[in-house]
Amino acid sequence: MVYEHNNPDERDVELVAATVPDWESYDTVFIGYPIWWGIAAWPVDGFIEANDFTGKTVVPFCTSASSGLGQSGELLAEAAGTGNWLEGGRFSSGASEATIQAWLEELGL
Ligand SMILES: Cc1cc2nc3c(=O)[nH]c(=O)nc-3n(C[C@H](O)[C@H](O)[C@H](O)COP(=O)(O)O)c2cc1C
Repeated sequence: MVYEHNNPDERDVELVAATVPDWESYDTVFIGYPIWWGIAAWPVDGFIEANDFTGKTVVPFCTSASSGLGQSGELLAEAAGTGNWLEGGRFSSGASEATIQAWLEELGL
């Protein structure tokens, strides 16, 4: 991962699966990832590129040691090119269920 961090051209990670059954049936999609060097862990990029987010509300969320969500959501939205991307949220890796629940209620989706 350090190698890939230092060589962005080498970040093309082949995913075991990049599509979701019945994708069309979802109005809202949550995209979760750990933060790597301030951005979304790049294996997520392949999922974003493989899917059409047209007409969907997309909620990025991340875990991190200390970094905030930063520009990670915006960068994914840019890569996707479609979808109504919300600002999203950041959690520590041990975030409690109550914390997640409160965030979901705040989103009011
Ligand atoms: C390659 C790599 C880079 C990371 N870079 C950051 C970072 O820039 N900022 C940060 O707060 N945490 C960083 N972390 C910590 C991860 O975000 C953290 O371990 C993860 O969100 C916790 O999820 P997990 O419990 O699924 O491992 C990094 C972790 C790895 C493996």
